Amino acid sequence: MKRLIDKLYDSNNLSSDELLLLLNNMDEESKKYLHMKANETRLHIYNDKVYMRGLIEFTNYCKNNCRYCGIRRDNKDASRYRLSKEEILDCCKEGYRLGYRTYVLQGGEDAYYTDDKIVDIVSSIKASFEDVAVTLSIGEKSYESYKKYFDAGADRYLLRHETNSRELYDSLHPDMSYDNRIKCLHDLKDIGYQIGAGFMIGLPNQTNEDFVQDLTFLKKLQPHMVGIGPFIPQSDTPLADEKAGTVEKTCILLSLIRLLLPEVLLPATTALGSINNKGREQGLKAGANVVMPNLSPTSVRDKYALYDGKICTGDEAAQCRNCIENRIKMAGYEVDMSRGDHISLQNK
Ligand code: 5AD
Ligand code: FES
Repeated sequence: MKRLIDKLYDSNNLSSDELLLLLNNMDEESKKYLHMKANETRLHIYNDKVYMRGLIEFTNYCKNNCRYCGIRRDNKDASRYRLSKEEILDCCKEGYRLGYRTYVLQGGEDAYYTDDKIVDIVSSIKASFEDVAVTLSIGEKSYESYKKYFDAGADRYLLRHETNSRELYDSLHPDMSYDNRIKCLHDLKDIGYQIGAGFMIGLPNQTNEDFVQDLTFLKKLQPHMVGIGPFIPQSDTPLADEKAGTVEKTCILLSLIRLLLPEVLLPATTALGSINNKGREQGLKAGANVVMPNLSPTSVRDKYALYDGKICTGDEAAQCRNCIENRIKMAGYEVDMSRGDHISLQNK
């Protein structure tokens, strides 16, 4: 496997067959070598910097019914909330005080937030705080809506493709279209956003063949960001009794993504930190270079329960800020509080 990992490190590419061979034969030694090469690649491009994004989960209403997700429409046990524009701006204000220069506004697909409301929120943030980046993560919209948000100042957009296996996608997403999801990613890229795709690891019936498809899809799409994390069952969903994904598999995939897309911004996600106390640190060592601490008001934190056992639900933004800084330093990296754009867009 070392030969294949070297080939991937040197060329940032492998065929589907080679990727599958790697995934099917990951012994302890290969894993160590893979993580080392991925870490080397991130150090070469982004040094030891870890970029910080402040996450604001502003609504847990959602019109979709994804079978894995705790805020799915049919979950009558979810206690729903929406943040007002003023509350969102207050989160940004506290974030700004703590040094954050990127805000990620994430929410379910909630028609209450019309295009006009989103435009108003984005432009108010951009007008209130100097040199900050705004990332939206609010699901599938039309080209025209995406364009309006972009013209209002939104810089980046996260829309995980969730899985690139059409069959698996369809089985998990009632009333949704895989083709539309992919179209949205292309629209976002066309408009000029820095885009983020990504997928879950350890979904029921997910195979290494599926991961190869995810990886080759990402290589072709060339997103600026890729968010991946373990699937974690949520007790009020149809997948409540399924097994969660593992730190080990997630870290292998983080390393493969770092080597396929050396310049990508790659978070060590909250889900990864939620299945293991040292999950995020392991993610950083496997090639991740972003963390997204929570800036949502503590009063709503536990309501944004996409999965069970989510960390940081009781912690103030300032506590998370300190906690994560210590963790990053202990893992041997440096916190970077700048906007943290993709390397191709820095210093322009
Ligand atoms: N486990 C892990 N991740 C989940 N997400 C949604 N539900 C779960 C779950 N049960 C992820 C999806 C979504 C992102 C916001 O959270 O990938 O895109
Ligand atoms: Fe939130 Fe550690 S990052 S408490």
